[in-house]
Amino acid sequence: MKFFKQTINTVPLQGQTVLLRADYNVPLKKDGSIDDDFRIRASLPTIKKLLADGCKVVVISHLGRPEGRDPKLSLEPIAQRLAEHLGESVRFVDQTIGDKVAMAIKRAPKCSVIVLENLRYYAEEEANDADFAAKLAKNSGARYFVQDGFGVVHRAHASTSAITNYLPSVSGLLLEREYSTITKAMKAPKRPLVAVMGGAKVSDKIAVIAEFIKVADTIIIGGAMANTFLAYKGYKMGKSKFDVNENAVLDDIYAAARKKVGADKVDDFIMLPSDLAVGQSLSADEERHNKRADKLMADDIALDIGDISIERAVKIVASAQTVVWNGTLGYAEVPNFAHGSARLALALSTHPDITSIIGGGDTADFVLNWDARKGGSFSHVSTGGGASLELMAGEKLPGIESLLDA
Ligand code: 3PG
Repeated sequence: MKFFKQTINTVPLQGQTVLLRADYNVPLKKDGSIDDDFRIRASLPTIKKLLADGCKVVVISHLGRPEGRDPKLSLEPIAQRLAEHLGESVRFVDQTIGDKVAMAIKRAPKCSVIVLENLRYYAEEEANDADFAAKLAKNSGARYFVQDGFGVVHRAHASTSAITNYLPSVSGLLLEREYSTITKAMKAPKRPLVAVMGGAKVSDKIAVIAEFIKVADTIIIGGAMANTFLAYKGYKMGKSKFDVNENAVLDDIYAAARKKVGADKVDDFIMLPSDLAVGQSLSADEERHNKRADKLMADDIALDIGDISIERAVKIVASAQTVVWNGTLGYAEVPNFAHGSARLALALSTHPDITSIIGGGDTADFVLNWDARKGGSFSHVSTGGGASLELMAGEKLPGIESLLDA
């Protein structure tokens, strides 16, 4: 899909100072260190291109949801990790706006990278405050604003929306790739297109499921989401986690599906697991027992799709041309209940001819952890959780819409 916005490749930013919005909201370990730096690595092509163009690159991001200046959520360790990946020094400034910022940026040489402190230390960021955005633009001394924080473009915040009123604003390479890849899969996929939907809540993904009813050739449902679908169909789910308030939504989903493929084909079109892997607790050493979906006992907890369903899902996926995967198929934190997700990851990674698009959030975390090639075994692993879901659902994202048109 041709990208409809200006990018760092289409404007003359050589030798300029640029303000770059990245999404460095990375998972942290209990001790506060970085658990996974996928989002930092994903930002490197844009930063390297800007440096190669002689730019001074001022990077801004949020981390977590701090209330005020929480030192555990400082961007300083992220600036250090970025420096390691770039192989050159990165200046860190412990403020985001103000004279100290302006001075540090002024003093920094061309072709250098400066990381400013967490945007969300300031309540004005999430309030999409115009004055805060104006200060960000002014203090940075930037000639252009570059939006590359795909994971946050579904938010209308000062650094995704208001800022674009103060600087000519274009897309970075990551944002362009995310948009183009995801949009192509949804609007002009190579077929068959198989959507794999898992995770916990139907309510988080209704809009995406509705979109896949329109565009997908098969939808495979797993994870706790499958429990909700099965409970809706009258299956006894024991102690499994499922939503009880989604019946009206599921009525609509099935009505749309029947309209598309006919009542007789609906259960092939929306594939639910015919068997489940159950346990009696969520403990890390809980044993895996396969049961038919209609044979669960009162104390069973469905924690993965069952072995027969895994084989069926793998077969469907292997004959697809495009697979979009959102949500793990089971309680993947525990290896005994990660079989469904792992077999799906294996099927995708061993069929390189399939265009495989992995939605961000938990699914990306799972495949990055599973994949020795850190995501390289798939066509595209998205850096955006909520943002990728909203884009797949066909919504307009404020952080993209606000950029200059191509
Ligand atoms: C994300 O991790 O999904 C983005 O960084 C957005 O973070 P938020 O949900 O706290 O706005």
